[in-house]
Amino acid sequence: MPKRIDKNKKKCYNELRTLKKEVNAMQYKVELLTGIRPTGDLTVANYLGAVAPIIELQAQGVSPVVFVADLHAITDNEPATVRQYIYRVVADYIALGVDPQKARIYLQSDIAGEVTTLTALLARLVSVAELLRVPTLKDKLKNSARPETANALLLLYPVMMAADILLNRAKKVPVGEDQLAHMEVTRLLARRFNKRYGEIFPIPQVLQVKSLRILSLRGRGKMSKTNPGGAIFLTDDAKTVASKIKAAETAFEGVMNEKLESLILIAKGLAKTGSERDEVDAIIEAHKKGKPVMGQFKQILTRIVQNFLEEFQSKRAEITRDPSYIQSVLEEGAKVARENAIETLAEVRRVMQIGP
Ligand code: TYM
Repeated sequence: MPKRIDKNKKKCYNELRTLKKEVNAMQYKVELLTGIRPTGDLTVANYLGAVAPIIELQAQGVSPVVFVADLHAITDNEPATVRQYIYRVVADYIALGVDPQKARIYLQSDIAGEVTTLTALLARLVSVAELLRVPTLKDKLKNSARPETANALLLLYPVMMAADILLNRAKKVPVGEDQLAHMEVTRLLARRFNKRYGEIFPIPQVLQVKSLRILSLRGRGKMSKTNPGGAIFLTDDAKTVASKIKAAETAFEGVMNEKLESLILIAKGLAKTGSERDEVDAIIEAHKKGKPVMGQFKQILTRIVQNFLEEFQSKRAEITRDPSYIQSVLEEGAKVARENAIETLAEVRRVMQIGP
C-alpha cells in the first residue's frame, strides 16, 4: 500500500514537472525581434517597415533583439557578396537608433546550427504545395525566377524565418507588409508543432496593426533594393535625394492615390519634429482642396529626407570607423542568441523524442 502511494506520488510529481516545463516554455523570451538581410544598402522603407517601430518601443523601455539575416540573404546571393554587407547592416541598425546598451544585435549564421536544424524539423509540418502557395514565392516564380532554376532554399525561406522567430520565442515582430505572409507561415507552424508535440512555442504576433508598404517612387511595386531608381537609400547624398524626389510620381490636384500616400508615410515617418509633420498635414489638406501644391510638398519632403539622412550618415561614419566595436556588439549578441536557441532546441528535441 505505501509503495503504491509512493508510485502515484512520483507519477504526479513527474506530471507536474512536465506541466511546469511546458508553462515555462510557453512564455515569450524576447519581447521584440526583427531581422534584415544584408543584400545591399538599406532603403528608407527598411527603416520605416522594420526598424522605426523598434526604436519607438526601445524608447519606452523594451529591450529589442535584432539580427542580420545572412542565411536568408544567400537564397539569391553568393555568400561572399553577402559577407561584405554584414558589418554595414550592423552599423545601420546602430546609427538608426538601435542602442547596443539596451538591445542585442546578432548575426544569424552565428547560430547557423540551431537555425538550420529547426528549419528542417519545422519543414516536416508543411507540404511542398503549401509552400508553393505562399504569395511571395508565387510572385517570384511568376516574375523573376523559374522553378527549374530557382534553388530549393527559396522554398524554405518562410520556414527558416519561422525558425528565427521560434528559436527566440519572440512575442512581437515588426515587419513591412511584404513579410506578412511569412509571419502567417510562422504562426501556422508554431500551432501545428504545439498540437502535435506539446505546447513549446508561444505564438508570435506581427507588430503593426496595419503593416507598412512603401511604394517605389517610380513605376510599379514596392520600394526595394533591387529597383534602385525608385528607392531612397540610407546612403544617398542630398543631391541624389533631391533628384529622386523631383522625379517621383504624385497625384493630380484634389486626388489621393497610393503613391502620394506612400510619400506622406515617408515624410511623416522621417520628420524629426511635430511642426514638420504639421507642415506636411497642412500641405496635404491644401492638395485635397484642389490647390496645386505638389511642388511645395516635394520640397518639404526633400528637406525632411535630407535632414534625416544627414544625421544618420554622420553617426554611421563614426560607427564604421571602429570595426572592432561592431565585432564586439555581434559577439555580445551571439552569446544571448545562442543561449536562447540552444535552450529552445533542447525542448524541441525532448518533445519530438529526437536524440538520446
Ligand atoms: P529584408 O531585408 O528584405 O527587409 C527588411 C525589412 O524591411 C521591410 N521592407 C519594407 N517595409 C515597407 N515597405 C517596403 N517597401 C519594404 N521593403 C522592405 C521588410 O518587410 C522587412 O521587415 N525576411 C526578412 C528578413 C528576416 C526576418 C526574419 C524578419 C529573416 N528572418 C525573422 C523578421 C523576423 C526580409 O525580408 O528582410
